[in-house]
This record gives sequence, C-alpha cells and structure tokens, in this order.
Amino acid sequence: MTVLETKRLYLKPFTSQDAENLYALNTNLEVIKYTGDAPFKNIEEAQAFIKNYTTTVYHKAHTTTQTGLGRYAVTRKSDNIFLGWCGLKFNQDNRQVDLGFRFFEKYWNQGYATEASEACISYAFKELHLPYVIARTHNNNTASQKVLKKLNFVFVNNITHHDMPTRLYHLNNEAYQLKEISAKETWPVRHPVLRKGRPLEDVYMEADEQASTFHLGMFHNNDIIGVASFMDDSHEGFTGAQYRLRGMAVLPEYRRKGIAELLLKRGETLLKEKGKTLLWFNARVVALQFYKNLGYQVDGTLFDIPKVGPHYRMKKQLL
Ligand SMILES: CC(C)(COP(=O)(O)OP(=O)(O)OC[C@H]1O[C@@H](n2cnc3c(N)ncnc32)[C@H](O)[C@@H]1OP(=O)(O)O)[C@@H](O)C(=O)NCCC(=O)NCCS
Repeated sequence: MTVLETKRLYLKPFTSQDAENLYALNTNLEVIKYTGDAPFKNIEEAQAFIKNYTTTVYHKAHTTTQTGLGRYAVTRKSDNIFLGWCGLKFNQDNRQVDLGFRFFEKYWNQGYATEASEACISYAFKELHLPYVIARTHNNNTASQKVLKKLNFVFVNNITHHDMPTRLYHLNNEAYQLKEISAKETWPVRHPVLRKGRPLEDVYMEADEQASTFHLGMFHNNDIIGVASFMDDSHEGFTGAQYRLRGMAVLPEYRRKGIAELLLKRGETLLKEKGKTLLWFNARVVALQFYKNLGYQVDGTLFDIPKVGPHYRMKKQLL
C-alpha cells in the first residue's frame, strides 16, 4: 500500500496501533449516524477488524493491478494526531470504486476531509488510472455532500444503500474519453490483444465497414486503450432485432478498471436507442465471468474457433 501525503496530512495503511483510535471514532454516534455501521464492542474488536482488513483488502489489492486500493488512516503532520480515515474501496457487487471518509467531530470544518479526499482522487486517477469513482452519502448528511461538491462530484440519483435513503455521486476521470471511432482506429488495440503474432490484415472483420456497424473506442490521454464493435448480424437460433458484439479488447495495462464494462454499456445504450432487442457474441472462455457479471447468458456448449480458441455463444435481451 502506498502512503499518500498532502500539505497538512499523511494517509497511511491502518496498523494495529490505530485500533484504539478506530474504536473511539466509531463510538461517536454523531460520526456514525449516517454510515449504517454499528460501533465496535471493544478495542479488541477494532484490532481484529484491522487485522482482517490488512490481510484481505490490502493484500487483495496487491494481487490486482491496484496496489493502492483501500482506506487509509489520516494523521496530521504537525502533531501526528489521528484525525480519522479516508480512502478508496472496490465494491464487488457493482464493480465500482468508491471514495469514503470519516473524521472525529472535533476536526470537522477544517478542510481535512476535502484535502485527504483530493489526495485519494488524484491517486485513483493519476496512478491507478481508474475511469471514475463513486461516492454515497445519507440523504441528510449535508456535511459530506458539501465535501463531495467541493471535490466536483456530480449527483446521479437517489438510491437505497444499507437500507438507508442515499445520494449517489460520480466523479469522472477527465483523462478518459469514450467515443465512436472508425474500424481502422480499433487496430492498435485489436491487433496486439486479439490477433497477437498474426499478420496485421487478420484484424479485418467482414462487417467492419458496413454502414450499420459502429465501433467504440476508449482513449486515455488521447491514446486508444480499449475497443468494441457492434454489427448488424443475426444468429439463426435467436429472434428479435439482433446485433452482434465483436472485437472487444482492452490493452493489458488498462484491464480490471471497468473500461470494458463502460464500452459495453455504452454500446447497449446506443443499441436500445436504435430499437435493438438482443445482443449476442462468441465469448472467449477467459472473458466468460466478465460478461456474466453484466447479465449475459451462455447459450449452448463450448465450441472452437480455429486460430482463436474455445468460445461460448452468449446473449442478453436488451429490450
Ligand atoms: C475481457 C476484457 C475485454 C475485459 O476488459 P477489462 O477492461 O479488464 O474489463 P472490466 O475491468 O470491465 O472487468 C474485468 C474484471 O475486472 C474487475 N474489475 C473492474 N473494475 C475493477 C477495479 N476497479 N478493481 C478491481 N477489479 C475490477 C471486474 O469485476 C471483472 O472481474 P471478473 O473478470 O473477475 O468478473 C479484457 O480482459 C481483454 O481485452 N481480454 C483479452 C481479449 C478478450 O478476451 N476479449 C473478449 C473477447 S470475447
């Protein structure tokens, strides 16, 4: 885990020495009023929480590309006082990374939450290259909402989270841009990812240049790093207004950040706008779980595509 530093603060991974502070933070009912968390029963419970957090979350973060993903203990540089915590969290249920913070009441209104959050966001966007982060606050938590506003988060909608009325916010990483591109613009990703070691002409797909085909590209600092193509192609086994996904690929260093999910969801939205009812494709076995997460179902049994490998046909009803 990386240590982050701001003008007034250090953000460091929790250690067993933080147990007493964490216990005290969560016994303050004002602090946890809107979080849905129960206070720790005693310091030992806070100790056990930190131990588990260190071995699961921090360790797990190290096994992915995201070595800095976790909550941090926030201390003040001038006197080494523990102020609270702030940091990032990967939510397995919706595959989104959220920003969270919690500070002792006596340190509120001094800009610490904003300052610590700015460091986390900068880390998330400039080091981890995440395309966006989310944040959630209780409907009545106006203090947190003010912090999110200062950080330029945009309100998305009202949701229920931990059985509480919650406001969902988004902050996009402006280094990314998702847009429609030409077939040729997909090549710098299609070729190394999907046709590695094969001649460049192997990137061509029959329907690439058809007027009904559209290609989406994700750019990071103007470099193309992810692509997906959507083609008007019906499978005999399916009914309805069908489209086919082809050439879904993300450069290795940009994987596990939700880039492919953004490309696919944008494609689905555009297809729905065109009145298309079903999207299908032949999925590589390695990508099966990724598609299942997004509601796609396997149709039929495993089959081989020469020179590419084993595949499953998958589909999703769009409308
Ligand atoms: C398949 C592929 C397109 C996915 O691209 P991606 O951008 O990594 O996809 P996502 O980040 O949206 O999701 C991939 C995984 O990362 C996880 N993930 C997403 N955001 C994450 C984050 N911030 N932190 C950690 N994990 C994250 C997702 O839960 C998903 O997990 P799972 O595969 O275990 O279910 C990419 O791996 C690829 O190009 N592979 C080679 C070509 C290929 O197989 N293409 C598909 C042809 S059918």
